[in-house]
Amino acid sequence: MRIDIITIFPEMFSAVLDESIIKRAQKKGRVKLFVHNLRDYSLEKHRKVDDRPFGGGSGMLMQAEPIFRAVEAVKKKAKGKAKVILLCPQGEAFNQSKAKALSNCGNLILICGHYEGIDERVRQYLADEEISIGDYVLTGGELAAMVLVDSIVRLIPGVLGDKNSLNFESLEGNLLEYPQYTRPAKFRKWPVPEVLLSGDHDRIAGWRKQQALKRTKERRPDLLKKSKQ
Ligand code: ADE
Repeated sequence: MRIDIITIFPEMFSAVLDESIIKRAQKKGRVKLFVHNLRDYSLEKHRKVDDRPFGGGSGMLMQAEPIFRAVEAVKKKAKGKAKVILLCPQGEAFNQSKAKALSNCGNLILICGHYEGIDERVRQYLADEEISIGDYVLTGGELAAMVLVDSIVRLIPGVLGDKNSLNFESLEGNLLEYPQYTRPAKFRKWPVPEVLLSGDHDRIAGWRKQQALKRTKERRPDLLKKSKQ
């Protein structure tokens, strides 16, 4: 898989892309990540990428030209079709099933929005999808792009060492994860539930399923409605 990120703050990405699992995924060749400075695609003096809105109003808008040029240049480098995603608060809400679907795409191009907004022609004629990571407004799409990359890359086969670690985690099948414990069996005055020490795998599996359902019902009844269980 190849992911290209177009941003006016390329330096922000090293904190996430050059660490831990994402770094290892790149080393193993499971994913290729490229960060592009949008200003490199500006045709204007001082590498300008924004301008005032037609019709007036406060603030500045990101111009279409540098974004189109950046995406067109990246598309030439990526083999095969690329899906272009604009990160913005107006986009479709991101979730685990979206992460899964995107992890099956060969090429993704993520555009990080900024300023007071973006020229509408980017939405209409360039982006295949618009995605929001939640109902709050960030100063830019960079953190949202990092969230996408992190959640997508860990789903690429071979990225996480233990295959089982993907099987039962939170939100698989729209259920939250069951409670987990490690040694010691009694910490201060709190013992581990007896069933987990029983060695009876069927009983343990039953308990976990029931706990996951209980937790989801209490905390996220909205997920249960979508659940396949
Ligand atoms: N840019 C600003 N806020 C955002 C959000 N919530 N999701 C995606 N991109 C954004």
